[in-house]
Amino acid sequence: MPPKEDEPRLGIAPERLALTVCLWAIAAAFLYQNLSDSGMIRLLGSHLRAAPWNPLAPPCGLLQGKEFAVLADRIVTPRGQVLPGAVHVRGGQIASVYTAGPAADRHMAARSLLVTHPKLEVLDYGSAVVAPGLVDVHVHMNEPGRVEWEGMETATRAAAAGGVTTVVDMPLNSAPCTTTPAELARKLAAARQPNHTYVDVGLWAGLVPANARDPTALRALIKAGALGFKAFMAPSGIDDFPHVSPAEVAAALPTIRALGVPLLVHAELVDEDVPQGGNPREHATWLASRPRRFEQNAVRALLDALRTTASSETLPGFKLHIVHLADADLLPELQAAKAEGLPLSVETCPHYLNFAAEEVPTGDTRFKCAPPLREGENRGRLLQGLAQGVIDSVATDHSPSEPSLKLLQEGDFMRAWGGIAGLQYALPATWQPWQAVGLNLTRFVQAWSATPAALAGLGGRKGALRSGYDADLVVWDPEAGADTSPEALQHRHKVSPYAGLALKGRVLATFVRGSQVFGEQRGVAAQACGAALLQRPAKRPVRK
Ligand SMILES: *[C@@H]1O[C@H](CO)[C@@H](O)[C@H](O)[C@H]1NC(C)=O
Ligand SMILES: *[C@@H]1O[C@H](CO)[C@@H](O)[C@H](O)[C@H]1NC(C)=O
Ligand SMILES: [Zn+2]
Repeated sequence: MPPKEDEPRLGIAPERLALTVCLWAIAAAFLYQNLSDSGMIRLLGSHLRAAPWNPLAPPCGLLQGKEFAVLADRIVTPRGQVLPGAVHVRGGQIASVYTAGPAADRHMAARSLLVTHPKLEVLDYGSAVVAPGLVDVHVHMNEPGRVEWEGMETATRAAAAGGVTTVVDMPLNSAPCTTTPAELARKLAAARQPNHTYVDVGLWAGLVPANARDPTALRALIKAGALGFKAFMAPSGIDDFPHVSPAEVAAALPTIRALGVPLLVHAELVDEDVPQGGNPREHATWLASRPRRFEQNAVRALLDALRTTASSETLPGFKLHIVHLADADLLPELQAAKAEGLPLSVETCPHYLNFAAEEVPTGDTRFKCAPPLREGENRGRLLQGLAQGVIDSVATDHSPSEPSLKLLQEGDFMRAWGGIAGLQYALPATWQPWQAVGLNLTRFVQAWSATPAALAGLGGRKGALRSGYDADLVVWDPEAGADTSPEALQHRHKVSPYAGLALKGRVLATFVRGSQVFGEQRGVAAQACGAALLQRPAKRPVRK
C-alpha cells in the first residue's frame, strides 16, 4: 500500500533514523570532549552567554543532576553587589546569574528562570551567601615525595570542605622540587591519578639559580603547563630549592615579563646582624631573628629589579607578586610603587590577620612561620592595607609537615619546622578578623577569588559568578561559626593553630565546575571531581 500523501515521508525507516540520531549525538559528545580537553570550548566559553555542555558526561560528587539553580539572598555579583538571586548551573559552567533588587527576594529573582525551566532542580540556601569559590594560590601539598607531610588527596579534601575550589601548588616541598619540565610532568601525573584531587589544581614552577639565567629553561616550564614562577630570596629550608639573589631575579625578569606569567617571591633578605641566644621556647626569640628589615631589604631589591627591567617587553599576565607580606611598615612604599605603575601585587595570609607575636604561648611551635607573626598592632594595619587595596589578595601558605618535625614536645621555635597548616580554615580565618573591622563581602570575594584567579592566569574562567565561567561556588553563612573541631578537619595531620578556635564563617556547600564536592551534612564527596589546570598559550598584548 502506498503511503498516504499527508503522512510524513522519510527517506529512511524510523529505526534507522533513531540509530542515526543516536550516533550523531555520540559523535557530537565525543567532539565536545576533545574540544573541551584542548581548551577550545573554554576559549569560546568566556564569550558565550550560555556555554555548551556535554549531556553525556557522567556526574561527579554529591548531586546526580548536571543542571540546577542555586538560590540565596546574598549572591555576590561581579559588579560587587550583594543581591538576592539565583545561579543557573549547567554542565559545569554558570549558564546565567539572576538577581533582583535588594528589596525583592530570591524566588522573585529566579521566577523567569523557573518559568522557562519548570523542571529545574532548585537548591535553596535561604539567607546564605553564594560567592565564587576561593582560589588559594599558595599551597604546599608536598606531593610527590613528601606525601607523609600532606599530599594532594588530603589537601584537596580540606580545600573542598573549606570552600576553596582551586589550589595552586608551590614547587616545594615536594621531593624533588618542581624546577624542570620533567618534575612538573611528574607532579601533573600525580594530580591526574584517578580519584586524587577533590578541587582543581594548578602548579607553580620554581625559579632557582640553576634556571634563573636560562630563558630556554624558564620558557620550557611554562610550555609544560606551569602557571608562573615562585622564588625564594631567603633559604627555603629545602636543600634542593636554593634561593636566588636579587641579581638572579633581575636576570630572569625579562623572560618572565615576556611570557606574561607572574613571579611570586618570598621576600626576605637574610643578614647575620641579628641577636644571638635567647630562650628558644619563646616566639619572641624567633621574631627577633627575622626582623622587619629582612622583608624591607628584599622588597626594595625587588622594586629595583622591576625598575631596571621596565623597558623589556611585558605581556599582560605578568606581575611581581610579593607572597605572605607580614610587615605593615612596608605598606606606604608598596603603595607608592604601585602608583608609579610598577606591575606589582601583594598578598598576605590569614595567620598575620589573626595572631599576634606576643600572644603565642611559650613552646607552641604550631605558630612558627616565616616571615614570623608580628606584633598585634601590625594586624590592624594589614587589614587597612587590604581595605585600601595596597594588599591585593589573601592566600593561606598552607605548609604542614609531619607532626614530629614541629617539635611540639620540646617547643623549640628555632629548630622546629616552620609553616602553618590552615587550608581548610581559609574562609573563616579571614572572615573573622575581616568582619570585625567592617570590611565587606565584595572586597572579600575580590581578595580571595577574582584577584588570585587573575594572578594565576585563570581570570577568564574562574573567580567570578559570570555566565560562561566555571561553576565554582561556595555557599556560606557569614554569621554562623565555622566547625574547627578535629573531627571535621581533613588535613592529613590535625596540627593547626586554628584548631578549636571560634571563627565566624561556616561553609555550607562547595561546587567545583558544577559538581558538589562538599555539603555541610554529607561531608566531602567520596568521588574526587578535581582537574589539573594548565597554562594556556600566552596572551598577546592588546594593541592600542
Ligand atoms: C566594600 O569595601 C570597599 C573597600 O574595601 C569599598 O570600596 C566598597 O565600596 C564597599 N562596597 C560596598 C557595597 O559597601
Ligand atoms: C572513587 O572513590 C570512590 C569512593 O571510594 C569510589 O566509590 C569510586 O568508585 C572511585 N572512582 C574511581 C574512578 O576510582
Ligand atoms: Zn609558602
